[in-house]
Amino acid sequence: MIEISHVDKWYSPTFQVLTDCTTSVAKGEVVVVCGPSGSGKSTLIKCVNALEPFQKGDISIDGIKVNDPKTDLPKLRSRVGMVFQHFELFPHLKIIDNLCLAQEKVLGRAHDKAVTKGMQLLERVGLKEHAQKFPAQLSGGQQQRVAIARALAMDPIAMLFDEPTSALDPEMISEVLDVMVDLAREGMTMMVVTHEMGFARKVANRVIFMDRGEIVEDAAKDDFFGKPRSDRAQKFLSKILSH
Ligand SMILES: Nc1ncnc2c1ncn2[C@@H]1O[C@H](COP(=O)(O)OP(=O)(O)OP(=O)(O)O)[C@@H](O)[C@H]1O
Ligand SMILES: [Mg+2]
Repeated sequence: MIEISHVDKWYSPTFQVLTDCTTSVAKGEVVVVCGPSGSGKSTLIKCVNALEPFQKGDISIDGIKVNDPKTDLPKLRSRVGMVFQHFELFPHLKIIDNLCLAQEKVLGRAHDKAVTKGMQLLERVGLKEHAQKFPAQLSGGQQQRVAIARALAMDPIAMLFDEPTSALDPEMISEVLDVMVDLAREGMTMMVVTHEMGFARKVANRVIFMDRGEIVEDAAKDDFFGKPRSDRAQKFLSKILSH
């Protein structure tokens, strides 16, 4: 579903942020991306749905090349759900309207169909009764679940997450991870930047470890947690697991 092939990216002529990144995410697969701060995880995931350009290599989603000038990027992006650390809901719109906006404007769905779909998804993330509230009236965990529901309302072919729980208070993390675990178990194709290794152990098929812009490790989950091949990944893992 997602093919990343020999991607190099420079933020400036002297700063290469990604070096020869190659990996893939098959349909229905869940791939967790981890690694130290500044290693290029967010940059890589942003390249996948063309929020960031890259200079070398290829990325394709469902066979459509992201870096082909002929590709209709808004259309492609509408098919790939993206959930960030900060929920980025529209503060002036009620929860249900947050869920309807792109369905109507981008997919051209009729308002009543968009509302029905939105309410179904709010129910699924356990927030049906909050439909008429504004984002500021919800907790961080609830807002993040709304952000996930909003992405799902577009019937995405894959979902990208960038540290969706790292801005949340500890007691809210699990409510968001539970939604993500359900999604993974239902067969959603997911690429997830996270340091929640409990989540990775539960549902990841593979774990990618990045360091200084390189994919240092790309291993089946059991191999990764069993014993990462590289020293760098071993050190990283022992640090985050000791917390
Ligand atoms: N827009 C930008 N312009 C220039 N440099 C950037 C830009 N965005 C990120 N960088 C730099 O690129 C490197 C990789 O950043 P990136 O955000 O991808 O790392 P990350 O692995 O997601 O880190 P974190 O775990 O802190 O989120 C960092 O050195 C960062 O400072
Ligand atoms: Mg990041």
